[in-house]
Amino acid sequence: MYTMYFLPTACAVGSRCPMGTVGSGGRAGTLPSRCMMQGGNRQGTANRAHMVCTLVQWKGGVGKSTLAIHMAAALDAVLVDLEPWGGATAWWAGPRAAALWQAPGRAPLLRALSDGTVPRPRRGSAGRPRLVPSHEQLLGLGEGAVVATAEGPLPLAEAIRRALPRWAEAWGCHVVVDTPAGFGPLADGAVAAADVVVLPVTLDQWAVPALRKFMASYAGRVRCGLVVPNRVRRRLEDRRWAELVAADGLIPAPFVLGPPVAESEVLHVARRPLAAGPAPSPARGAAIEEIDALARRTLELAA
Ligand SMILES: Nc1ncnc2c1ncn2[C@@H]1O[C@H](COP(=O)(O)OP(=O)(O)O)[C@@H](O)[C@H]1O
Ligand SMILES: [Mg+2]
Repeated sequence: MYTMYFLPTACAVGSRCPMGTVGSGGRAGTLPSRCMMQGGNRQGTANRAHMVCTLVQWKGGVGKSTLAIHMAAALDAVLVDLEPWGGATAWWAGPRAAALWQAPGRAPLLRALSDGTVPRPRRGSAGRPRLVPSHEQLLGLGEGAVVATAEGPLPLAEAIRRALPRWAEAWGCHVVVDTPAGFGPLADGAVAAADVVVLPVTLDQWAVPALRKFMASYAGRVRCGLVVPNRVRRRLEDRRWAELVAADGLIPAPFVLGPPVAESEVLHVARRPLAAGPAPSPARGAAIEEIDALARRTLELAA
């Protein structure tokens, strides 16, 4: 029964989880092997020690950026912000966001692709994850975009697919990618590169049908997909939607239902990672546990 997901999950803050330390700012365990999930159709690559996890959904406002930020912090991952408006970059940099988003020169993503280099992530303060920031130049990258790469011109999605796993290995850590809503080459490339895609969904008549359409379109291109009910409230309507989402057949392979994340004022207003700072309040502790559970499940699927 889905209702079990309304119960708190079990990982204590900062505890050593089977897949590595999550939620304490510690480095998460590396992945022993590539995901061999049945139903995954993406072309495999050689064994890698570090996963690429992409947050994706056609629908906006479901929590992609919020979960990307906090998952990256929990996993001690590099956060790559591919959302052209740079929601995660704005959260990360606060008042300095415009300086990053409109930094002179080429966008970090485009520079790394064209030079065949690995971007140097920015170090975050107060526990913020390392970041490859968004840039206003990403706004111009629509359907059909072709970019210069060290291997010659490539469709943007293909260039991103090739680059992200390489960057993860070069950085020696997991990578969490935030993507824009809607359909486009930035999200497509990050989906194709991902060991696990995480699909947040709010439990309502707008997001659930959009999720179903997304899964139908992407089933052939996703290796492992984790559907994460987000902003779940303890109310009858959410419970009904939750049961519907959990019903047989609604989430087909290679997608699976993941642990939910509750509606949380803490997540809504947090200006820094949840585990940073003094001992957490009960509300922050609850949010940390949920993000930890999500990070752990993602690692399990990638392994
Ligand atoms: N679990 C949550 N609890 C409370 N608010 C949330 C939660 N997840 C996301 N939000 C809020 O929902 C809004 C949209 O989230 P965002 O991460 O920007 O979505 P997306 O990136 O999918 O467009 C933001 O105001 C964010 O603070
Ligand atoms: Mg966003």
